[in-house]
Amino acid sequence: MTLNERIRHFYDTSTKLWLDTWGEHMHHGHYGDDGKEIKDHQQAQSDLVNNLLLWGGVHEASRILDAGCGVGGSARYLAKLFDAKVKGLTLSPVQVTAAKIYNEKAGLDDQVEIVEQDLLTLTAADGPFDLVWSMESGEHIPEKKQMLEQFYDVLSPGGKFLMATWCIRQEPPALRPEELQLLDTIGDLYNLPPMISIEKYRELAQELGFTNVQSADWSAAVAPFWKAVIQSALSLPSFVGLVRAGIPAIKGAWAMQYMTKGYRMNTLKFGVIQGTKPEIHRQFFLVFPLAHGNRHHVEHCCFVYVGGVIFGRSCARNWIVAVHYFGLSWCQYIHRWVEPRLPTWRLTASTSHTCRLLRVHFPCGQVMRLSLFRC
Ligand SMILES: C[S@@+](CC[C@H](N)C(=O)[O-])C[C@H]1O[C@@H](n2cnc3c(N)ncnc32)[C@H](O)[C@@H]1O
Repeated sequence: MTLNERIRHFYDTSTKLWLDTWGEHMHHGHYGDDGKEIKDHQQAQSDLVNNLLLWGGVHEASRILDAGCGVGGSARYLAKLFDAKVKGLTLSPVQVTAAKIYNEKAGLDDQVEIVEQDLLTLTAADGPFDLVWSMESGEHIPEKKQMLEQFYDVLSPGGKFLMATWCIRQEPPALRPEELQLLDTIGDLYNLPPMISIEKYRELAQELGFTNVQSADWSAAVAPFWKAVIQSALSLPSFVGLVRAGIPAIKGAWAMQYMTKGYRMNTLKFGVIQGTKPEIHRQFFLVFPLAHGNRHHVEHCCFVYVGGVIFGRSCARNWIVAVHYFGLSWCQYIHRWVEPRLPTWRLTASTSHTCRLLRVHFPCGQVMRLSLFRC
């Protein structure tokens, strides 16, 4: 089975049990900054959502993406709080069905839409959103950088991503063999690809062009949650439910002891991170023609900068629209604006956020390469 198939199977088989025992929020609780506040566990789960919003400084949002939404516990909460439209993604069809029932019951079916979709298939066309919310799903994603890049692409300029995720402690010092073994066990039992530290998330977000990137370690605040989950799993109805749910759920329950151990050893961390997609403007690009193929072609290009758009003129007296930054990613811009206007030319681009390589494929078969640098 692929990773996504295993994740789907895990949630398809264990969701009912979780809903019966814990309800619609499938995430940790928050027990005060030092984890010492005694409170009802469901209240602690709501507190985690509220603390994250507070920490993220989110006071309004009208279009929200809940990336990895479970049965939509957060999605409905955010929809109500901000009177927003929320789209939630999950890999589990069982969760989609359950979410629809919850949405109807809450009278939110016109505001909250939960679909079965891999968040790594998101494109700019799925957006724009002014908030991307990611509550304890990032740890399931094998390509963390791609995930953040997709968040960037679906956000509107000025929009924010807010994420709470399982992490590993910062290195160095390098993880010891017993730590690696523990992480392997947790990863295997919960279907997680290798986790990264919150500091690494931060680095990736900054590299991708997010601004106001902030992160924090909330491990102490959430660690008491696992004791409560273990206790609930030991009750008779849960035990029976567990046996009925089958192997993946039993494995998940078995893994709980390793979660508490992971926090105790300081190996496992609960990280939060936020970043803002920059507002549009003031950004412009320099265009450098690179010698390639027919140099003559390149050398006879001239570039003019008009109203933020750089036009290049080739020796063949064709105009090429090179670039403009509208807060859209390059590929998005090229696909949305450039391609339809130049039906006989093909444009392709690489995806780095600091430097774009644009290839203009002329009908005659020649290709011109341009490096585009953000400044
Ligand atoms: C621990 S649950 C958290 C659910 C929800 N955020 C909450 O707090 O109640 C993890 C969720 O991530 C989803 N997930 C994992 N990998 C995903 C992917 N590649 N695309 C979309 N959803 C994914 C799972 O389907 C599941 O709904």
